[in-house]
Amino acid sequence: MKIGCPTEIKPQEFRVGLTPNAAQEAIAHGHEVVVQSGAGTGSGFDDAAYAAIGAAIVDSAEEVFATADMIVKVKEPQAAERKMLREGQLLFTYLHLAPDPDQTHDLLASGATCIAYETVTDSRGGLPLLAPMSEVAGKLAPQVGAWTLQKANGGRGVLMGGVPGVGPAKVAVIGGGVVGTHAARVAAGMGADVTVLDRSLPRMRYLDDVFGGTFKTMFASAGNTAEIAREADMVIGAVLIPGAAAPKLISRAELADMKPGAALVDVAIDQGGCFETSKATTHADPIYEVDGIMHYCVANMPGAVARTSTIALGNATMPFLLALADKGWKQACADDPHLLAGLNVHAGQLTYAAVGEALGISVTDPKALVSAG
Ligand SMILES: NC(=O)c1ccc[n+]([C@@H]2O[C@H](COP(=O)([O-])OP(=O)(O)OC[C@H]3O[C@@H](n4cnc5c(N)ncnc54)[C@H](O)[C@@H]3O)[C@@H](O)[C@H]2O)c1
Repeated sequence: MKIGCPTEIKPQEFRVGLTPNAAQEAIAHGHEVVVQSGAGTGSGFDDAAYAAIGAAIVDSAEEVFATADMIVKVKEPQAAERKMLREGQLLFTYLHLAPDPDQTHDLLASGATCIAYETVTDSRGGLPLLAPMSEVAGKLAPQVGAWTLQKANGGRGVLMGGVPGVGPAKVAVIGGGVVGTHAARVAAGMGADVTVLDRSLPRMRYLDDVFGGTFKTMFASAGNTAEIAREADMVIGAVLIPGAAAPKLISRAELADMKPGAALVDVAIDQGGCFETSKATTHADPIYEVDGIMHYCVANMPGAVARTSTIALGNATMPFLLALADKGWKQACADDPHLLAGLNVHAGQLTYAAVGEALGISVTDPKALVSAG
């Protein structure tokens, strides 16, 4: 198969869909790789790194789309890219179709087969191609929160780990999933006094078994959440109710009870945010103040560490990419129900129920497509 990797064109996107390591493995499996010149630059991979392992470098996205059997990307294809997709071509990338009717209609019209990273599943009920970005955002959250707490940035002027004779910052993490666990580990590693709040008892049992002593757990009732927020120097929002907007767990009125200059880091902002006063910000202007409380609400946190994020995403996508290239999408999806869960569009048919429901489009059962002769 010829695998093509264009440069990402969405503003502020520095990741790349194919690392030189992944390209090398694909070539070792007998495939060809074509990369747009400069595609890896934002993640610290120059053209020479791809050329050295035998990938062809071309000047334009048009050349990549025109020749490749499979296009590998990071972000959903932009309008200009969608025009270049063609019937029979395979697209493997994040899509997030439910809130995006224009993209969905363009992908259906293209006749291409589109597999979305975010709906590929694993045997434990997780989302293995979303998890690496949650890990990155979780580990970043205390780092950006510590910066937000600095006086010059409007914060309380509190050091995460304290010093001998001065206690550490108090950090509350609401939601103890992938983001929350990574955030709590880093905050505790910086020396902060950390409490994780969740509503899932099995999850808290797990956290307590594995991390007991490193950080505390607490049931996320409204009363506990309000009490812990009042005492906190930093609150990290990391909740997720799959398929739903994030619940609002700290109201504007409650800000008045918090310590002046405390930091709210709302990682769940990509699902609408879990604090009433959250609104999405960008890396260019990440923090703002409401009622004396500093808010950090960047919706694409992993973009701040594009190289780490690219490599983490590449590690997770590689086995699926190789299966798709080795077997073709149909056999690969027939052999692996978790990859089949990623199939969103095939030859003008929508194959993902939740997207159909959100956009009022009828859906073809993906199982029927792969079992058809
Ligand atoms: N801003 C970014 O750049 C960025 C990057 C990655 C992920 N995210 C977002 O971070 C959020 C968390 O993602 P995740 O991968 O950790 O999800 P996850 O499913 O692994 O964890 C979510 C946790 O929230 C808990 N929860 C649900 N409702 C709760 C409530 N009312 N109170 C307390 N806990 C509650 C769940 O029990 C679960 O443990 C998601 O909204 C995700 O989209 C944002």
